[in-house]
Amino acid sequence: MAAIRSLPLSQGPKPIPTFGLGTFRAEGNDCHESCLAALPRPMADNLCRREIENEDQVGTSIEAFLAEQTEVTRDDLFIVTKLHWDSHGGDKAVAKVEESLKKLKLAYVDLFLMHSPKGNKVVETYKGLLEAKARGLIRALGVSNFGKEQLIELLATGVEVPAVNQIELHVWNQQRDLTYFCQQKNIVVMAFCPLARGDKFGKTRLTAIAERLGTSEATLCNYWVLKSGFVTIPKSVKPSRITGNLEVLEIRLSANDVAELDTLEEAFECSLAVAAQRIPWSEVA
Ligand SMILES: NC(=O)c1ccc[n+]([C@@H]2O[C@H](COP(=O)([O-])OP(=O)(O)OC[C@H]3O[C@@H](n4cnc5c(N)ncnc54)[C@H](OP(=O)(O)O)[C@@H]3O)[C@@H](O)[C@H]2O)c1
Repeated sequence: MAAIRSLPLSQGPKPIPTFGLGTFRAEGNDCHESCLAALPRPMADNLCRREIENEDQVGTSIEAFLAEQTEVTRDDLFIVTKLHWDSHGGDKAVAKVEESLKKLKLAYVDLFLMHSPKGNKVVETYKGLLEAKARGLIRALGVSNFGKEQLIELLATGVEVPAVNQIELHVWNQQRDLTYFCQQKNIVVMAFCPLARGDKFGKTRLTAIAERLGTSEATLCNYWVLKSGFVTIPKSVKPSRITGNLEVLEIRLSANDVAELDTLEEAFECSLAVAAQRIPWSEVA
């Protein structure tokens, strides 16, 4: 299988793999099995993405995986976690990062994200997280669900530019203005809900395109994200789907086929989180 490409980050020693595992709502044994299915992929190419609620479980799976073999070390993994918006506050930031590390059973995470501007005190919180980075607990700091205006305002405060903005992004919601802005500022775009949660599979023009090209809709969704220069983190608790989703590394589409995927845009939002991008800066700063 072709290797997963990585993208350089403006912060930290490691580039970020462009394909990772989303673990939102992956619980218990499902979470364990999906982490174990994802972690052995080409070395230094793994991104295990965790969500706040199952940090403990993901940490247990990483620990078990590292104990069971010797070829992959902690440094070969790229682990991402985040601060929930209801935990904002500069004074709390370092303690919250330490809490995450304890649950993950790790000494550091490769990327830490501020989940959303929704919880206000954004600048203070961001500065608190930079303090955690200065202490070596975080290798790179990024944000999530930040819109263009919010990024402009954050950068205007003179803070270090976030390494990543994780946003809802898929063929049906391409957010071109925001992604163009991020790329101009050297902020790597990470696409969450890259499959639009599968909500539109079997119901749109993508179905016919996938049939014509002899591939799956999930593969085309991931292909569009990767071809656009972003990071994709499809979630699945099914090891066969995790492996199947990696088939995106094997296909090549023509420029015409990619242009056809571009035409699927319809500003469809499948997450509630994306609404935070539109909150006025005066309410979040
Ligand atoms: N920052 C934020 O606010 C935010 C918000 C939402 C999500 N996220 C992150 O983004 C990650 C991905 O987003 P998401 O989980 O909401 O949506 P997603 O990755 O677009 O879709 C996941 C859904 O698609 C199914 N699926 C996976 N592979 C498939 C395939 N090959 N064919 C058909 N269905 C497939 C999964 O089911 P099975 O598990 O049953 O396979 C699951 O129901 C999350 O895990 C989370 O880490 C971040």
